[in-house]
Amino acid sequence: MTKKTFVFIFGIGSGIGEGLYKRFQKETDPNHFVFGFSRKGRKDLTSFSLDSPGTYQLDAKEDLSIPTFTEKLHLGLETETKEKGSFSLLVYFALGDGVFGPLTELSDVDLQSHLDLNVVSLIKLSRSFAKVLPIFENSTFVFLGSTAGKLGFPESVAYCASKHAVLGICRALREEWKPLGTKVIHVSLGAVATEIWDTRPAFDKKDMVSVADISEYLWCISRLPKSIFVDDLSITPKKGIL
Ligand SMILES: NC(=O)c1ccc[n+]([C@@H]2O[C@H](COP(=O)([O-])OP(=O)(O)OC[C@H]3O[C@@H](n4cnc5c(N)ncnc54)[C@H](OP(=O)(O)O)[C@@H]3O)[C@@H](O)[C@H]2O)c1
Repeated sequence: MTKKTFVFIFGIGSGIGEGLYKRFQKETDPNHFVFGFSRKGRKDLTSFSLDSPGTYQLDAKEDLSIPTFTEKLHLGLETETKEKGSFSLLVYFALGDGVFGPLTELSDVDLQSHLDLNVVSLIKLSRSFAKVLPIFENSTFVFLGSTAGKLGFPESVAYCASKHAVLGICRALREEWKPLGTKVIHVSLGAVATEIWDTRPAFDKKDMVSVADISEYLWCISRLPKSIFVDDLSITPKKGIL
């Protein structure tokens, strides 16, 4: 029986998620079905179907997007399981933004919006998969955390809070999903040259890891042998923490 792997990448509009989606496009494994989601996806989310890989519009902060995705995912898997195939699941959470600056200048709106995207949406999207996880023979979730999820930096209160929360989400899900054999991998990233740094000219993108390299690294996770469970990966550019 053919073994399908469904690959879901959230945050394919730019930066690391876009690079990772492109990396998966280079792959020739015909049993990999790759789906990308972000506000810049090409297809309308209401047309999302497991038969139709590609990129879909999903705004993780908008009320209807995640429930629509969840409904379509569950419906699609119902059909797939009738075919009694054997399935694997690989999910990358590469969506997020950065809010930087002195605490005195942090507005309520920016704070809420940042936490909604970087924390609440990750919990809600994880919940979308929770119910259907037992269907999969193997399942792996990769969360893009940050050095700011373990250390404190000035002018980064909201970002440090959200990235510490990502680590907490990973640790909790790892325990909750242990009976299912689900791998939950936290990747603590140092600086990668993406748009997230565009408002911080003091940091030189030449000192950072390139999107192509981090995409290669993250793609390699899809090649981990079955019995290897990685909790926490940590990478930095050559200079270390910038
Ligand atoms: N770059 C770094 O140095 C670094 C270091 C540590 C951790 N990280 C983490 O890596 C992740 C990706 O960051 P990046 O550097 O690649 O930044 P980026 O280029 O700004 O990418 C952000 C991604 O999030 C998506 N996104 C933003 N708002 C969204 C929404 N409302 N709904 C759905 N998707 C949304 C964007 O796509 P659309 O605009 O199309 O929606 C884009 O794909 C973030 O969680 C970031 O914290 C990055």
